[in-house]
Amino acid sequence: MNPVNVGLLGLGTVGGGTFNVLQRNAVEIARRAGRGIRISRAAARDYDAERLPGIEAVPVTTDAFAVVEDPDIQIVVELIGGYEPARELVLRAIANGKHVVTANKALIASHGNEIFAAAGEAGVMVAFEAAVGGGIPVIKAVREGLAANEIQWLAGIINGTGNFILTEMRDKGRDFAEVLAEAQRLGYAEADPTFDVEGIDAAHKLTILASLAFGIPLQFDKVYTEGIGHVTRADVAYAEELGYRIKHLGFARRTAAGIELRVHPTLIPERRLIANVNGVMNAILVMGDAVGPTLYYGAGAGAEPTASAVVADLVDVTRVLTADPGNRVPHLAFQPDALEEIPILAMDAIETAYYLRLCAVDRPGVLAEVTRILGDQGISIEAILQKEPFPGAAPERVPVILLTHPVQEGRMNRAIQRIEALDSICDRVVRLRVEYLDVD
Ligand code: HSE
Repeated sequence: MNPVNVGLLGLGTVGGGTFNVLQRNAVEIARRAGRGIRISRAAARDYDAERLPGIEAVPVTTDAFAVVEDPDIQIVVELIGGYEPARELVLRAIANGKHVVTANKALIASHGNEIFAAAGEAGVMVAFEAAVGGGIPVIKAVREGLAANEIQWLAGIINGTGNFILTEMRDKGRDFAEVLAEAQRLGYAEADPTFDVEGIDAAHKLTILASLAFGIPLQFDKVYTEGIGHVTRADVAYAEELGYRIKHLGFARRTAAGIELRVHPTLIPERRLIANVNGVMNAILVMGDAVGPTLYYGAGAGAEPTASAVVADLVDVTRVLTADPGNRVPHLAFQPDALEEIPILAMDAIETAYYLRLCAVDRPGVLAEVTRILGDQGISIEAILQKEPFPGAAPERVPVILLTHPVQEGRMNRAIQRIEALDSICDRVVRLRVEYLDVD
């Protein structure tokens, strides 16, 4: 059978990795797909030919639209990233009857509903395994492998750059900016690294995972998103003392009232496997009612790990090119007419445990005032630590760390407001959320 013709948009980190993996493993890939998969045309503004042995045999244009309009191309691989022109290119490719493979989480999280509707009408596939967790086949696992389950919750370390930064800060006491620069140099970080450190990239990925897990439309604008910029080395150390690690977690949970959808720095018990996922590695813990806890681990970023997912999608699409569109795996795991509008909970309504760090004047009665306020809000305390003053800080002011039992966030907000108003509290209260991720 003739090889399938692929148009590759983008020859940067992931595009280059995809080209190289397809070249290097061409024979093995054809054995799996049933026919060859050939990059017959590529589009890139700029690329480094020395990194891409064999690229001289491929016509490369600067005009990505010429590739999506090319009648000889059957599958378009979009690895440009960002919202535009990626969205327009993908919609043009679909309108032209081409299948699409993309690693673009921003595009899928924000415009996926529109893109999948267009693909459904055109009878083509849009595959996006590389959009979440780099090389980890977590989309396939949640969409297909866990299809028997009602998924109860999932928790993911789904931004390699953020995890790399938190790990280096904890292990080596390195400076935030220095570690971020290294992540950029290694090709892990987004073009705009604030997407990594402010949690936007993780929120894109969580949006996608939550849709697949719960059968809801993609709703990126409803994800609560908090970055890691305010996490200090002191908090990392106090959390360790209490038996927790701080991770930048994407968390989604089905509750009777609706779905929690949130990305924020989170304390998790250090005995959990996911607490020990370090550096640029990603991991996603998924709890299904039948299977129990399952954990997916691997490289969440980088050229060839991400290319691994892109090429797997290419093999999948190649295998089912001639299959009846009605019998393919649905884009969002559930049949398009079976998606449900389950409400996404406002943050006031979510329930979690908390780590609080207060700067308190060291005199009798201060802790009593604080614990009374918490008690008034029905907040139960699990642990209290009073620490030495920070080096250089006034000796009568001490950090006090509190761990609470789970409570509704609205109550915690009211308690924090009252604590901050006390004369004996000298600063804003630092608040981090705690998830036990019970898997027992
Ligand atoms: N910037 C992303 C990360 C790349 O650091 O995880 C993969 O999506």
